[in-house]
Amino acid sequence: SSRPEADSLVGAIDQGTSSTRFLVFNAKTAELISQHQVEINQSFPKEGWVEEDPKEILQSVCECMERTSEKLIQLNINISNVKAIGVTNQRETTVVWDKETGEPLYNAIVWLDLRTQSTVEKLIKKTPGKNKNHLKDKTGLPISTYFSALKLRWLMDNIESVAEAVQTNRAVFGTVDSWLIWCLTGGKNGGVHCTDVTNASRTMLFNIHTMQWDPELCKYFDVPIEILPEVRSSSEIYGYMNSGSLVGVPISGCLGDQSAALVGQMCFKDGQAKNTYGTGCFMLKNTGVKGSVAIAGAVVRWLKENLGIIKSSSDIEKLAATAGTSYGCYFVPAFSGLYAPYWEPSARGIICGLTQFTNSSHLAFAALEAVCFQTREVLDAMNQDSGVPLSQLQVDGGMTANKLLMQLQADILCIPVVRPSMSETTALGAAMAAGAAEGVCVWTINPDGMTSVTSEKYQPKINPDESEFRYTRWKKAVQKAMNWET
Ligand code: G3P
Repeated sequence: SSRPEADSLVGAIDQGTSSTRFLVFNAKTAELISQHQVEINQSFPKEGWVEEDPKEILQSVCECMERTSEKLIQLNINISNVKAIGVTNQRETTVVWDKETGEPLYNAIVWLDLRTQSTVEKLIKKTPGKNKNHLKDKTGLPISTYFSALKLRWLMDNIESVAEAVQTNRAVFGTVDSWLIWCLTGGKNGGVHCTDVTNASRTMLFNIHTMQWDPELCKYFDVPIEILPEVRSSSEIYGYMNSGSLVGVPISGCLGDQSAALVGQMCFKDGQAKNTYGTGCFMLKNTGVKGSVAIAGAVVRWLKENLGIIKSSSDIEKLAATAGTSYGCYFVPAFSGLYAPYWEPSARGIICGLTQFTNSSHLAFAALEAVCFQTREVLDAMNQDSGVPLSQLQVDGGMTANKLLMQLQADILCIPVVRPSMSETTALGAAMAAGAAEGVCVWTINPDGMTSVTSEKYQPKINPDESEFRYTRWKKAVQKAMNWET
């Protein structure tokens, strides 16, 4: 084989909203050596509710690790070359479990879940000036259903077993990273209960200045600070794999998936930004500014599962290409309200500009354009905040395989869009953090040395005036989605 056996390998668990993956990279070249992926079931018990089973999530991780290990063996690679494991995960999704039995006390409440909307409204009403940014100075976040604190509060208020376990000191809270690290390092037999700063920063209980849980925020949400995981850095040894083929390997990287992608895209310089197209769309800029769009890939899934106009997600590119335009149709997929920059939970989806001529291909095109327009809105807000306009956007995520989408994105942003040829950037970021941790040190983070990292660039092709015209129309459609009830 061209791969010398002695090369250090680093694994990454990428636990996303729709699927789980385990990937193994060469720590010198960043080459992806092997991987396995398993889909995750979601349940929607009531309108606006989104849940996942924490045990299924754990199982999927173990399955991916075992299958990948088998694939390495088939490639004649010694799995003892895997020197470290990083964890990256869907953020905000909330799990509460019993540390004595090791059992989850309820399903995981997924970040997209809207069950806490009325609580959010009540909290905002109580703030001086009815200000959703009341906690922003400390947390960097608006009060929203999105973040973990409200989900945790809901569990304590509505699920008896959770309330009881909190009373008797058996309950522990975690985002998906904490749940996984706890289970993988031994669970009820000595599992490590920790999280990293990037995940902690998405709970609304974390002070982004002191970099610690904030007693005042905990009081505000009435959350006992003792049930929270210990906050650690994103690159250090948290513990060791307790079972499975990779038993004994240190878990030494942990980042929320969007922060991991920022690392994997090598956005180390001030002002560099990336956008990841997954279930949602998430843009992060090196300054720490974040922008989240709830619905990206999910709109394609909706066209497939709810309208049936495409058979598989990848068909959307062909269908949209047959139209080549939305023919004046605008689609605002505000299924769970609108996130950045509006943060309006009561917004709902809208399709407008329909004529007799409009058909499914125009709708498909409009859906792709929606992803691009939403990205433009987040980028505009970031440019405004920082005062330095971005000159190109790094992108990654499953949807970036859609070349039409990438061209549209460049056209709508009026700047080049750069996509790495290896699009598993989130996992790469987690692997880099794990391999670079003190006590592991098999990965020297030097982008120039990562010879397998190449990229393709999409240049804007349409006239900026046309781009502006379409964007203005889109914004009109958004206003309708915001006020459709009034
Ligand atoms: O904030 C939620 C985000 O972390 C989920 O990412 O890739 O599962 O859509 P993804």
